[in-house]
Amino acid sequence: MSTSTVQAFKHQAPSFWQSTNGKKVVMAVTGCILFLFIIGHLLGNLLVYAGPVRYNAYAAFLHFDDTLLWIIRSVLIVAVVLHITATVQLALRNKKARPVDYSRKEAINSSFASRTMYWSGPIVLAFVIFHLLEFTAGYIHPGSQFIRGDVYHNVIAGFSVWWVSAWYIFALILLGIHLRHGIWSMFQSVGYNHKKHTPLLKKAALVIAAAIILGYISIPISVLTGLVK
Ligand code: HEM
Repeated sequence: MSTSTVQAFKHQAPSFWQSTNGKKVVMAVTGCILFLFIIGHLLGNLLVYAGPVRYNAYAAFLHFDDTLLWIIRSVLIVAVVLHITATVQLALRNKKARPVDYSRKEAINSSFASRTMYWSGPIVLAFVIFHLLEFTAGYIHPGSQFIRGDVYHNVIAGFSVWWVSAWYIFALILLGIHLRHGIWSMFQSVGYNHKKHTPLLKKAALVIAAAIILGYISIPISVLTGLVK
């Protein structure tokens, strides 16, 4: 290949990140990383039903190696940043490409969940920031003193405040809608679209997202109803 052909190719072919497909793959892979974290985090948090000793021991285990903890945190932060950047850039690109009179047809064709992706995402992000300030940093802790290392106390005290629980339940329902759509569209993003399998995938996504969210929501509800004290 001559130098001028290489130059022309470089000029024409967008890089992986610049291409629409590349951004969709980045969204899918980072979404998958965050999804795995959400499952792992749920399994850990369900230990709240095993009592303070086991729940606090689990939290202590997460902090046993600071280097490892920061490696995992860095992967999550990079995943969140790339997920948001790719989403915003794709949305702007779609908006630019779409003719004005197409918007009505688009609204009819797209599902409720897909239309909520753009606003459920920012609310879930706001929830995660609140959550980190409440349970990790302890800067926001309505109702009682934050006790570092006593995560059981922090969670029970936090969810005993009704509006904290209400805010969690609201944000978790949105996370569920976001996950449901994200799970099956992840397959579409990497090019998997099958007439027979896609409807099944959509149903599976609904069941998985509902199970995850019910698991999470059960915690504030159990605290509010006094099941977990
Ligand atoms: C009822 C639901 C939830 C409970 C009870 C809960 C509980 C906790 C607790 C106690 C911590 C602090 C752990 C520690 O510092 O030792 C924590 C950290 C965290 N939670 Fe949750 N969580 C819930 C839902 C979620 C959800 C839905 C997400 C994500 C969308 C999430 C993301 C995180 C993150 C990113 C951290 C920081 C982990 C780190 O230390 O690096 N949590 N959570």
